[in-house]
Amino acid sequence: MKIVGISSSPRGQNSNTLKLLEAALDGAVKTGAEIESIDIAKMKIKYCTACNSCHETGVCIIKDDYNVVLEKLLAADGIILSSPNYITNITAQLKTIFDRSPLVIHEQLFDGKYGISLTTAGSGEVDFVLGIMDNFMIHCGGSTIGELAALCLRVLQQWKQPSKNRVKWEKPLLKR
Ligand SMILES: Cc1cc2nc3c(=O)[nH]c(=O)nc-3n(C[C@H](O)[C@H](O)[C@H](O)COP(=O)(O)O)c2cc1C
Repeated sequence: MKIVGISSSPRGQNSNTLKLLEAALDGAVKTGAEIESIDIAKMKIKYCTACNSCHETGVCIIKDDYNVVLEKLLAADGIILSSPNYITNITAQLKTIFDRSPLVIHEQLFDGKYGISLTTAGSGEVDFVLGIMDNFMIHCGGSTIGELAALCLRVLQQWKQPSKNRVKWEKPLLKR
């Protein structure tokens, strides 16, 4: 069994969400699975341009690392999607993958694959974020079998005790 984990935080090895993903992948290894972790934040993946070519020809005409990610996802039995909570949402990096995937949805290319969604956040607002990843998996024809969120309080502490260098912003005056 092959399990592919997607990391989408721009914080690389410092990412809280990556640590959660690595723990999940370690668990998969212990059950005998072959694993692969992909850091999409390090890859060159352009936005969808809504050119419609994937609908017309079955192929995305943008040639970049999206195709590398897609090939790995299509070869996987299980997919672990992970994203930190960014403004009660997934990261732009992961959303870009989703937006490039209409073909996967229309052709139900994740049929028979199982998915898990992971997030970390500075607050308890995680259900919406997990739901976005679960929905993508289901829209693509896959099944979701679990989700997990971890609260990372260090960031909250930083906001409560801002550094002296923090800029004080004035609210802009409304122009009439
Ligand atoms: C741009 C940005 C937006 C964030 N928005 C939220 C938010 O809306 N709600 C929340 O609970 N945490 C928010 N956080 C905190 C992160 O979700 C939290 O620190 C997370 O663990 C970071 O994960 P990472 O280390 O994998 O990048 C935000 C952090 C950043 C950098």
